[in-house]
Amino acid sequence: MSTFWSWYIIVLTVASIVGIWWLIRWTSKPIPKDEGATTHHVWDGDLEEYNNPLPRWWLNMFYISIIFSIGYLLLYPGLGNFRGLLGWSQVGQYEREVARAEAVYAEIFDRFAAVPVPELARDEAAMRAGHNLFMNNCATCHGSDARGALSFPNLTDGDWLWGGTPEAITQSIARGRVGVMPGWGAALGEDGVAEVTEYTLRLAGRDHDAALAEAGKPHYDMYCVACHGSDGRGNTALGAPNLTNDIWLHGGSRTRIARIIRDGVANEMPAQLHLLGEQRVHVLAAYVYRLNLEE
Ligand code: HEC
Ligand code: HEC
Repeated sequence: MSTFWSWYIIVLTVASIVGIWWLIRWTSKPIPKDEGATTHHVWDGDLEEYNNPLPRWWLNMFYISIIFSIGYLLLYPGLGNFRGLLGWSQVGQYEREVARAEAVYAEIFDRFAAVPVPELARDEAAMRAGHNLFMNNCATCHGSDARGALSFPNLTDGDWLWGGTPEAITQSIARGRVGVMPGWGAALGEDGVAEVTEYTLRLAGRDHDAALAEAGKPHYDMYCVACHGSDGRGNTALGAPNLTNDIWLHGGSRTRIARIIRDGVANEMPAQLHLLGEQRVHVLAAYVYRLNLEE
């Protein structure tokens, strides 16, 4: 607040308190000697007004509230830029409350941090915390049941792009992942794409055109094995999915598979470490790990 507005508020506030004080003094006249007399004002022919003082208790309430307001304005911020003798502020109070909550949570998360992921995945308190963290930070993309959606992986099916070990899961969450599959339309042409699509369907054990699939095999061996492996089981070091289990990140229809092969795709999981910190990432890794345990 500029000095001008600060003084503007101070003067207005102090002036109104003094003004109210004066108004009360002025209107609370002493008990008149002729108590019971009227003011000589007459309304509606016979309605008269007694000339009595304001009730004492009522006046005292006014004085008390004036004294209270002065005390309040001295102790707390209220008079322009004056911070009050207690130095209280909303921000300060908020920060104290956050610090108090942090201290409580820090103790709990310190305990969780010391427990390895597979063990932590069996700790009910940690999994409740993990569930809340997941709902707040992950469910928008992976779904509240963690089963994913088109292009967002299901985290409960035991099928991993980047690996399901505690280390791999932690890494996925902390550092994020970018899955990049180059497009092969230019190299293969439409016919080549159609052939290798049939071969991909054959790998997955799906209905396919046997002749086209056979024609697709050399394309696969030439362009695809480097990432998806000769058996089609993928490579978690590259985030290349297993093509044999009929689980499809980008949709399992023939058209969708062909489009990925033709155009390629880049899919990103944003890094969370700088947002959540190491301890919360650790609890989330255990939560995701837990989702894949056979109970
Ligand atoms: C903005 C959307 C988005 C958010 C938010 C997000 N993810 Fe992801 N996540 C993705 C995408 C997309 C992928 C797949 C990346 C790829 O294709 O390689 C992924 C991949 C993953 C993987 C690797 C899966 C595998 O099969 O290897 C894990 C684990 C994961 N996310 C956990 C989380 C957790 C835990 C959170 C919350 C802290 C989270 N994600 C928040 C989009 C998101
Ligand atoms: C440079 C490595 C690389 C090569 C080479 C490559 N891919 Fe991929 N492919 C990937 C990655 C990584 C993904 C996952 C992209 C993502 O995270 O969304 C993928 C995804 C796919 C998908 C989608 C899978 C799904 O679950 O939806 C299909 C189908 C596919 N590849 C087929 C092929 C075929 C066929 C070839 C050869 C013509 C090929 N890929 C070559 C890396 C590669």
